[in-house]
Amino acid sequence: MKVTVVGAGAVGATCADDIARKALSEELILLDIKEGFAEGKAIDMMQTAALLGFDSKIRGVTNDYAATADSSVVVITSGLPRKPGMTREELIGTNAGIVKSVTENILKYSPNTIIIVVSNPMDTMNYLTLKTSGLPKNRILGMGGALDSARFKFYLSQELGCSPADLNAMVIGGHGDTTMIPLIKHATWNSIPVTQLLSQEQQDKVVAATMVGGATLTKLIGTSAWYAPGAGTAVMVESILRDQKKLISSGVALDGEYGQSDISLVVPVVIGKNGAEKIINLPLSAEEQAAFNKSADAVRSMNNVLTESNLI
Ligand code: LAC
Repeated sequence: MKVTVVGAGAVGATCADDIARKALSEELILLDIKEGFAEGKAIDMMQTAALLGFDSKIRGVTNDYAATADSSVVVITSGLPRKPGMTREELIGTNAGIVKSVTENILKYSPNTIIIVVSNPMDTMNYLTLKTSGLPKNRILGMGGALDSARFKFYLSQELGCSPADLNAMVIGGHGDTTMIPLIKHATWNSIPVTQLLSQEQQDKVVAATMVGGATLTKLIGTSAWYAPGAGTAVMVESILRDQKKLISSGVALDGEYGQSDISLVVPVVIGKNGAEKIINLPLSAEEQAAFNKSADAVRSMNNVLTESNLI
């Protein structure tokens, strides 16, 4: 199977590196608009093959969409990353045009592909891809929930003094500092509800840290993070290619689930060879549902910018 990663920046390159190390696909194309950039990163990664012991082939190309033909999965990371102090939402003006044109180019050569959108603001970029492509909703997924849930597990593990791998915890809502909803009441440490182990103060601290997890890193690094975003995307790619049917918080179009329609938001999704195979409609408490509706309102007003700018 063939995978294309569009955008050879830090997130795209890390995602490609993870895919290569895990040998998830026979063919891996890394595409970037900047002359020679993807080629260089692909060669650098290929030079780790002898050291790390993988056989994956990575090919970098400059804007050559013909090289991406017949990809089973395409990851879109194109666009600008956040700078310190910037919200994901502030990127809409620049990134919407880029994501739209990438989607159109990809579909010329891979009409049957499944697309994973990573570009920010993710919920709106996922909605844009859905509208631009006209593809059925199972074939357009947004990455954000996988990352935010991993950050949630990290902060929980710090508070509990445990292995993040022993935790089950999900973030739903939007992939934004104020729109994401870490579902702490549903989080468990090997089946033990974390709410039985952490004080209210500790729980509030974990939730708050998770919500600004991306911004915290942007402030420290000077640009947006890439290791966890890349790994989160690769996990979704793996679940599709290996038909693992993993339950992953992902951006997906809602048609009445969680009381919302004509919008893409992050909810628990079963991911397999057909992309988003099933949305788990988890019953929410009144408080969680109110937070979800508030996130939907915020994402919807971002989506309206697309209509106002004649992008959809
Ligand atoms: C972050 C970016 C990738 O949360 O949205 O780090």
